Amino acid sequence: KGPIEYSKGLEGVIAALSSISAIDGKNGKLIYRGIPIEMLAKYSTYEETAYLLLYGELPTKEALEKFSAQMRELRVIPKKVEECIVELPPNPHPMDILKVALAHSALYDPDRQKCCREGVMRKVIRIIAQLPTMIAYYHRARTGQEVIPPDPELSHAANFLYMLHGKKPDEEEARIFDIALILHAEHGLNASTFAAMVTASTLSDINSALLSAIGALKGPLHGGANERVLKMLDEIGSPDKAEEYVLNALKEKRRIMGFGHRVYKTYDPRAKILKEYAEYLSDKYNDRKYIEIGERIENIMIRELGKKGIFPNVDFYSGIVYQFLGIPRDLFTPVFAMARSVGWAAHVCEYTANNRIFRPRAYYIGPDYVEYVQLEKRR
Ligand code: CMC
Repeated sequence: KGPIEYSKGLEGVIAALSSISAIDGKNGKLIYRGIPIEMLAKYSTYEETAYLLLYGELPTKEALEKFSAQMRELRVIPKKVEECIVELPPNPHPMDILKVALAHSALYDPDRQKCCREGVMRKVIRIIAQLPTMIAYYHRARTGQEVIPPDPELSHAANFLYMLHGKKPDEEEARIFDIALILHAEHGLNASTFAAMVTASTLSDINSALLSAIGALKGPLHGGANERVLKMLDEIGSPDKAEEYVLNALKEKRRIMGFGHRVYKTYDPRAKILKEYAEYLSDKYNDRKYIEIGERIENIMIRELGKKGIFPNVDFYSGIVYQFLGIPRDLFTPVFAMARSVGWAAHVCEYTANNRIFRPRAYYIGPDYVEYVQLEKRR
């Protein structure tokens, strides 16, 4: 057999048409529905960005109020789901808990049987609204604390921090978290979004599609990288040890978490914004250990691999921000999931509106013919 043309990891393959977001990987630009991410980070809220992604345009004041009210109302999870979450063992990774909680909640979804647009949209908004509650409830329960019911007076971002800590965050912290959620809300056909789309393309339900996405996001090459970045910063311990650590890792062909991207061959614009907040919070709390190690790693990586297009990605500085907001490390990836749920849902809705089942092929490289040997004759 001669050489074949195929795209390992589907690199460069266009698998769908979409008007949800676009990445310019050469110039480090990202737009949601045409709006630059920097403008959304500056002026928008997670609720408004979610509306934009789901419905295709910025909401009017009235539409935003209605949508936000719906999100607030749907935050409360069914009692049975709460009982299930608080009974779950305290040791599994919270991403596994999130799968259990989401699968369980589908059984109590009042729109479960609905497949009309309104019904699906309600299911979607319910999931986006409830994932934070599930994460916070599990964390409270596993640490032996009472769960804190959602507060309908608070924004999506502030309410999560409140449910997690049992105390209302100050405005500035809530806003920084809101911005982090906006920056994670959508990113084209990344592995988790594509996983959701593949499941949805069989005309399975939205809950199953988002469960596929959560499973894909968990991996360290995708959303699981953020948690590992902090682990690495701890392992390094001080900025003067960064050089040796990075060079050793590269020599041993180990990946530095939070660097590199399939599409960006330059600085990820989300990382740029998150770095500013990581800097800001490090100064605010007069604790510059992580940011200084992080910046040292960044300089070494760009020096060593910048010419190959390896730069910090969204996961590199997000963990430092979350750490200062008091979010436990193993919740970093679940927080990514709760933010990205809107991107997953937007793509599922867009793709299935003009659906075709995903069904690629593999190029067979095995033998052409092998005789079947009876069991008793095999050695
Ligand atoms: N550290 C060291 N070398 C790297 C890294 C890294 N983080 N990323 C890529 N490379 C090298 C890689 O070894 C390869 O070198 P060579 O050509 O000599 O074999 C070259 O760069 C291309 O790498 P690749 O694996 O072909 O790139 P990919 O597009 O298949 O993978 C990636 C993209 C994000 C999985 C990869 O860059 C990676 O493993 N990064 C670390 C994990 C990470 O930070 N993931 C978060 C991604 S962004 C947010 C998200 O999606 O969750």
